[in-house]
Amino acid sequence: MTTTTRILRLDASANQAASTSVKLGDHLIERLRQSGTQIDLRSRDLNQDLRFIDSDWIGANLTPAEQRAPEQSARLALSDRLIDELKWADHIVLTTPMYNFGIPATLKAWIDQVCRAGITFRYGPNGPEGLLANKRVDIVVTTGGAPLGSPVDFVSDYLRQVFRFIGIDDVNIVAADKMNVDADASYNGAIAQIETAHPAVAA
Ligand SMILES: Cc1cc2nc3c(=O)[nH]c(=O)nc-3n(C[C@H](O)[C@H](O)[C@H](O)COP(=O)(O)O)c2cc1C
Repeated sequence: MTTTTRILRLDASANQAASTSVKLGDHLIERLRQSGTQIDLRSRDLNQDLRFIDSDWIGANLTPAEQRAPEQSARLALSDRLIDELKWADHIVLTTPMYNFGIPATLKAWIDQVCRAGITFRYGPNGPEGLLANKRVDIVVTTGGAPLGSPVDFVSDYLRQVFRFIGIDDVNIVAADKMNVDADASYNGAIAQIETAHPAVAA
């Protein structure tokens, strides 16, 4: 029996057309296609259609859903849509470069839109509890010179924490770091990591 995996792909590079992380994301999706599962794919370029949260957004979010004015519900519509996509997915493929030691602002905007108390996490007797379960995430991270896992990497642990916070513990990071040092070695190393994490099924 063929199963279908619902994949949500998110690309954060500001340089989409020439992006190494996007190219590696393509390879990862192709690899998943070869793994024997049927794929239902939705893709989102995080440079498009995102907004930063603001005081209206925070006010609307703090207002119980049944008491929201129509304009407050409208202010949360994008967040609702992004969360619906996340809930829909079995598997998230996120590609991102490191910008100034952290994540691109577009990706941070997405994170601020999808971390919503009562919907993707809640505070229980033992502290925060993630509400999204049974999902896995592959994250491709590119850097120019900074080694992932080094003291100047504020991407890897941060993203692991964000996904853990909303209930997703199964996070695999594919490192394509130090691209400006040896691009081929970094790229080929990332391809090898993808192929090890997602073995193809023999035809
Ligand atoms: C605005 C900007 C900031 C960057 N900051 C860093 C950085 O802090 N550390 C680093 O190692 N590389 C940095 N880089 C290099 C990128 O991470 C690197 O070129 C990466 O391969 C780009 O990925 P992409 O091709 O998918 O866009 C930066 C690049 C840009 C454009």
